Amino acid sequence: MKVLIFGSGGREHALAWAVKRNERVTEVVCAPGNGGIAEIARCVPVDLKDLEVLVRVAVEERPDLTIVGPELPLSLGVVDAMHDLGLRVFGPSRAAAMLETSKGFAKRFLQRYNIPTAHYAMCSTAEELESAVEVFHSPIVVKADGLAAGKGVLICQSRRTAVEAAQGLFSGALLGEAERQVIIEEFLVGEEVSFLCLSDGKHVAPLLPAQDHKRIGDGDTGPNTGGMGVYTASSLLDPEMSDWILHHVAEPAIRAMAEEGTPFVGVLYCGLMLTARGPQVLEFNARFGDPETQAILVRLESDLVDVLEACIDGRLDQTELRWSAGASACVVASSAGYPGSYKTGLPIQGLSKAEQVPGVHVFHSGSKQLGNQLVTNGGRVLGVTAAASSLDEALDRAYQAIAQIQFDGIYYRRDIGQRALKKVP
Ligand code: AMP
Ligand code: GLY
Repeated sequence: MKVLIFGSGGREHALAWAVKRNERVTEVVCAPGNGGIAEIARCVPVDLKDLEVLVRVAVEERPDLTIVGPELPLSLGVVDAMHDLGLRVFGPSRAAAMLETSKGFAKRFLQRYNIPTAHYAMCSTAEELESAVEVFHSPIVVKADGLAAGKGVLICQSRRTAVEAAQGLFSGALLGEAERQVIIEEFLVGEEVSFLCLSDGKHVAPLLPAQDHKRIGDGDTGPNTGGMGVYTASSLLDPEMSDWILHHVAEPAIRAMAEEGTPFVGVLYCGLMLTARGPQVLEFNARFGDPETQAILVRLESDLVDVLEACIDGRLDQTELRWSAGASACVVASSAGYPGSYKTGLPIQGLSKAEQVPGVHVFHSGSKQLGNQLVTNGGRVLGVTAAASSLDEALDRAYQAIAQIQFDGIYYRRDIGQRALKKVP
């Protein structure tokens, strides 16, 4: 069996690693992949923004299964194009991926089906926004409608700064491209949880809940990033709360997408805030999270390929997901300057020592092979991931391993998982 994975990050490295454990899998191809993925899969250069090239690679490779990692190819309709060619692919159609690709679509959808989310207003001009903002208390959250790689959400301390932020989104000054729709939203307070579920369009199977650390600095300070670290542990959500989220958020969303004629097959990532009035949806993503996937897959005992095939074939209800007991953690090592500008091409040392720490896997996010040397090639460079029987131990292992790794300007947060450890059990 040949498996093709689209993407180039730590998520795709973890997917390739998990796919390879299946005995039926004889070949894994990753497009474009990265320096770490190249050690376990054949990498093929592609531009993830170019649908034609992606389809050409799929036609040439004729994979038995394709997994789409990032949102961009989904937004271009890569899944639809591959279906048209009769190829088996795991991921939502372009229409179903709108739960992620248009925040406006997602908010209206949530409202239509009474799925809990922050109060909001959607505006198509700065004037409209100026009057809508009057009924919001600060801080006010201002969001671009479209995909913005984590840069489209602004937390504003006053109505005036909210209006200014919206003007920046409408004019294109903030994101480069002018937004046609801007959402203002009530600021929610609470713990954030990434609740990822698999779906075959009808049935829903939750993965382990995870907590991401989005800000660059310790103590959740500084600008937002793609995610600087994550953990899974039973203390994150009790079983009743997990069930509540499954029955009141994920299942109704999957049911509604099917009823609307756009069944969702793939990973529905529910980004939630656990607030005083219960869990509220902050966002949907239509894909595996990064770095959530790294911490989730190191605890998956079931076979990933079998489970993804069950989704494609509409028989997820006959599949059981099994997990190792305990906990996991992933600490991201990033380049100095990230999420702003940063250097690339810096030699990375110490990886084999890091991987000698029991239970540790180092998944690469932004690395490449330059001759015989592995060098940095992105803002997020590595996701040092560990599974263990407790969160304490998983964190110990991940931090022990990351201390073995060197590249010029290496930065990582020192407080991944600390909030969970401080909680009274
Ligand atoms: P999003 O892309 O919508 O998930 O937003 C990115 C991040 O901004 C989230 O992970 C939250 O940390 C924060 N955020 C988004 N919406 C809100 C909100 N309504 N209240 C508080 N924080 C928010
Ligand atoms: N870790 C956040 C995301 O994947 O969107």
